[in-house]
Amino acid sequence: MLELIDVHAGYGRSEVVHGVSLAIPGDAVAAVMGHNGAGKTTLLRAVVGLLPVKNGKVLLDGEDVSKLRPSARVRRGMAYVPQGQQSFGQLTTAENLQLVADGRKRGKALIEESLELFPALRGLLTRRAGLLSGGQRQQLAIARALITEPRLLILDEPTEGIQPNVVAEIERTIIDLSNRGGLSVLLVEQHIGFALQAAGRYYVLESGRVTSEGEGGAAAESTVRAAMAI
Ligand SMILES: Nc1ncnc2c1ncn2[C@@H]1O[C@H](COP(=O)(O)OP(=O)(O)O)[C@@H](O)[C@H]1O
Ligand SMILES: [Mg+2]
Repeated sequence: MLELIDVHAGYGRSEVVHGVSLAIPGDAVAAVMGHNGAGKTTLLRAVVGLLPVKNGKVLLDGEDVSKLRPSARVRRGMAYVPQGQQSFGQLTTAENLQLVADGRKRGKALIEESLELFPALRGLLTRRAGLLSGGQRQQLAIARALITEPRLLILDEPTEGIQPNVVAEIERTIIDLSNRGGLSVLLVEQHIGFALQAAGRYYVLESGRVTSEGEGGAAAESTVRAAMAI
């Protein structure tokens, strides 16, 4: 589905990601873990095309998309939810969803489906996104991404800075989504327990390199904690 081959990326002349290879074989979740500053966000930005892939390849269903603009990657089925629950703060919840649904044949149905997934948003449709809690904004951001009907959902620390009760809800939804079929997830996540529960495969990133990788599942937790020295 998604394959990264020796991806290098960074900012200007400073390289941050030094040759990362990873793969999500079918409809599955791959989790990327690592300390702050390891290069996780930089890697995701290169995957979606917000930063150039300086060397290496990003393959989506076998097609090399590493030179395509972000919009072309979105058309091919990538959806990216950046770190930090970004939405259009001045717009209402409903307007934020509508904005993405506009021009899509199934727009209305897609909004309805995303509200079924995040029922809490239903009561917040007329509220400005800027006034939502962090957890609510994160749900809105994922809902917006799903309206583009992605084959690959890319999530950057979706539970960061969110109240614990909402974290559990978001985690459950991500696991539900990944079990639906037709969707792969590239998940950057600091909560190791959840990341391994969701992921078929995990990668630990340290200073821009993969230092540990393997099959997901609870059994991998001690290996990952040792790799991250925590
Ligand atoms: N816009 C930027 N310009 C220059 N360097 C950056 C920029 N964003 C991040 N970095 C640097 O890249 C490294 C990796 O950052 P990042 O990918 O955000 O790590 P992570 O998401 O794993 O916390 C850090 O050393 C950070 O200072
Ligand atoms: Mg980050």
